Amino acid sequence: MTTIAMTKCPVAVVTKDQLRFITCGSVDDGKSTLIGRLLHDSNMICEDQLTALERDSIRHGTTGGDIDFALLVDGLEAEREQGITIDVAYRFFSTRRRSFVVADTPGHEQYTRNMATGASMADLAIILIDARKGVLVQTKRHSFICSLLGIRHIVLAVNKIDLADYQKKSVDRIGGEYLTFAAGLGFASIVPIPISARYGDNLVSRSDHTKWYTGPCLLDHLESIDIQPDAATQEFRFPVQWVNRPNQDFRGYAGSVVSGSISAGDEIVVAASGQTTRIKRIVTQKGDLPRAQAGDAVTITLEDEIDIGRGDLLARPRERPKVGCQFAAYLIWMDQDPLVPGRNYILRVGSQTKAGSITEIKHRIDVNTREHLAARTLNLNEIGFCNVATALPVAFDPFDINRKTGSFIVIDTYTNRTVGAGMIAFGLRRPTNIALQPLSVDRVKRATLKNQKPCVIWFTGLSGAGKSSIANIVDEKLFAMSCHTMMLDGDNLRHGLNRDLGFTEADRAENIRRVGEVAKLMADSGLIVICSFIAPCRAERDMVRSLFDEEEFIEVFVDTPLEECARRDSKGLYAKVKAGEIKSFTGIDAPYEIPIRPEMHLRTKGQTPEQLANAVVNLLVARAVVGYR
Ligand code: ADX
Repeated sequence: MTTIAMTKCPVAVVTKDQLRFITCGSVDDGKSTLIGRLLHDSNMICEDQLTALERDSIRHGTTGGDIDFALLVDGLEAEREQGITIDVAYRFFSTRRRSFVVADTPGHEQYTRNMATGASMADLAIILIDARKGVLVQTKRHSFICSLLGIRHIVLAVNKIDLADYQKKSVDRIGGEYLTFAAGLGFASIVPIPISARYGDNLVSRSDHTKWYTGPCLLDHLESIDIQPDAATQEFRFPVQWVNRPNQDFRGYAGSVVSGSISAGDEIVVAASGQTTRIKRIVTQKGDLPRAQAGDAVTITLEDEIDIGRGDLLARPRERPKVGCQFAAYLIWMDQDPLVPGRNYILRVGSQTKAGSITEIKHRIDVNTREHLAARTLNLNEIGFCNVATALPVAFDPFDINRKTGSFIVIDTYTNRTVGAGMIAFGLRRPTNIALQPLSVDRVKRATLKNQKPCVIWFTGLSGAGKSSIANIVDEKLFAMSCHTMMLDGDNLRHGLNRDLGFTEADRAENIRRVGEVAKLMADSGLIVICSFIAPCRAERDMVRSLFDEEEFIEVFVDTPLEECARRDSKGLYAKVKAGEIKSFTGIDAPYEIPIRPEMHLRTKGQTPEQLANAVVNLLVARAVVGYR
């Protein structure tokens, strides 16, 4: 065992030459032991920690009288279970040659999300394999995720070599099998190293037990591996984090250079707008710099006053990133609630925040076999290849060119939770041969002819709440007032336009998306459109609302308690649900999110449909939608 010659805790020195890595493997593979050993053998353990470790090893250890290095890390894991620390713990240590950041991510199957978080910052992954067990399904899964997240260097740590009699053949077999599997994953280096995390074989020095092994020991390899391409040699990218304007005389753009370098006097372009100018000064707290490079946090001032805001991406004019509203991307889903294609989410690409949606899932990827599977949604920890659209253009690079400007996160609009993480594969162009055709008879002219204001009256509520009955009477009354209307009803549209859709969350979202588009076309033709759909999710109702001007969308919540709907059971559906013939029924085993601020809230109990319809018509009159001739 290595002796400890330390008296106080060293401070991690972050130098430019830093290697960031993750360890992948399940708890039994010796991940914790390996990290513990590395920290110990590179003198990163304080004396008091070591004393405690020795004491704990005797009390709880699984290693006989020896120090159980896993306890060093597992103590933190227990902390994590209590929710004290975040899912991914980063540890810093350094040797004379390099400094290291290691992300310790839980190895269990459902932790794809955490592993992805750790891997997204790593240059290298140590994949632990039990020498006796060989390449397992989870080895393949971890490798695939590493590859997807842009890790280019792999150390195949064939662990517990002591339990495989320090045999060369087990390492050769595992190495061979892994190389065959990993072909096509795009790794720049795969280095198998026989180790014993427990006894320290081949960790900080070559082991006498494996004389046949001629490669480097683990630490040596970590200290010397060349992890090019270095961010500093890539194209210059500077996302503007905020505009610093303390007074009239100074306007600077603050942020960190994520790749490449720039000097005062160099020409730059604002990626999205295409405007160009030159760098005037590169300002830091310690004074101006002639040059800034990847990793530097600086404030840039420019020769010309051009329009730049938070989120803009600055580059060199000849190396301009892609700018567009659509791209194809790998997406890792990280939320309990599944992805709903077509739903509005917030997308954060670099420091740009845009509304957007996943328009299509091309396929889901089985992370164990890399097979492509058909999918209409993605569940927690699943990975898919998707088309993504943003409402406004974003600037980006493909992920394999730049991990910083090529990745994005997906945020739920309502809960603000990060629900997905994506890697951009390539940009997609909107078809350039289709432009918006100007119409000489526009919606205003059409509506004026009809003497009405086009609008959408959207009835939402549980099945059997009375939506269609009330909507029908409203329609009759408006018709009697010579209004031009059209009724769109859930059941009816599901016989035609939407007959391919069922009642999953994703299908319902698509149902409402299509109805919204149809309603918009009808409103454009000057009609008052009456819609009657359950539309159980706020996100979809809001999406339809966003297609219209504020006063054009009237949400009417038909509020009938579930028991009352079931008692009425006008279509006999509740009886079928009870008999187990219908699944995912709104209000029973599928959710209904009640409207938060509907324009009208109709409590139906004790009221006739006629009375309720009158209330709606009165609102339309009050809003001068009808009756203003
Ligand atoms: S929505 O949820 O996608 O908005 P929509 O309003 O089009 O639904 O259709 C709802 C109608 O379909 C109900 O009124 C009911 O007649 C019928 N239906 C059949 N199965 C279901 C189900 N599982 N959940 C809700 N409604 C269902």
